[in-house]
Amino acid sequence: MRLVLLGAPGSGKGTQATRLREHLQVPHISTGDLLRAEVAAGSPLGLEAKAVMARGELVSDGILLGMLEDRFSRPDTRNGFILDGYPRNLAQADAMGTLLERIGQPMDHAVFLDVPTELLVERIAGRAKAEGREDDSPESVRKRLQIYNDSTAPVVEYYRQHGQLKVVDGVGSLDDVFNRIVETIAPVKEVG
Ligand code: AP5
Repeated sequence: MRLVLLGAPGSGKGTQATRLREHLQVPHISTGDLLRAEVAAGSPLGLEAKAVMARGELVSDGILLGMLEDRFSRPDTRNGFILDGYPRNLAQADAMGTLLERIGQPMDHAVFLDVPTELLVERIAGRAKAEGREDDSPESVRKRLQIYNDSTAPVVEYYRQHGQLKVVDGVGSLDDVFNRIVETIAPVKEVG
């Protein structure tokens, strides 16, 4: 199964991807996690990305595509994957489509986690207290939500137009949201 999780910051993409990884037995590829690992390692890419991420802005499309091509070249993606955090703009959506076509792995579903803005802000504020992620400061969160609305929301429409979009209500307990996703992506049973 090849799945992309779409949604605003705080919508629960990472949380649900971790559960779906166990359920589907395919790797979870989070571009945010890949970038944070580069920052933690102090690599040249990480040094370039660090300040951009802290400000809540997008890292360059070229860096992201290179990172993903590298990740998709690993054999564990052959049976599928859960992609979280990419694509974040229409240029990335096109690049993703071309990459997946080239490796013969078309996307099965694009699942959009629908969560109202007040709840996103509340969840991220909770995480800021618990984990202290650098880009969870109020200024960065404002910027991330603005970039989401300007650049990433059109990606949801892109997948709708490609007939791959599944909208899931992202409000409720972790189990409720997980069950809704699983139901949405389950193959339709043939009658008779
Ligand atoms: P990234 O790590 O992808 O951050 P994000 O998209 O802003 O998403 P979050 O991690 O904030 O939210 P999430 O939807 O995963 O929610 P979560 O499950 O954590 O990217 C970080 C940065 O990296 C970007 O800003 C950018 O700079 C760069 N970057 C990454 N990808 C890029 C790309 N493609 N191009 C360019 N730059 C890129 O949940 C949030 C909180 O809510 C948690 O505390 C969780 O416990 C809680 N929660 C989740 N679900 C529920 C629920 N149902 N009920 C109650 N609480 C819940």
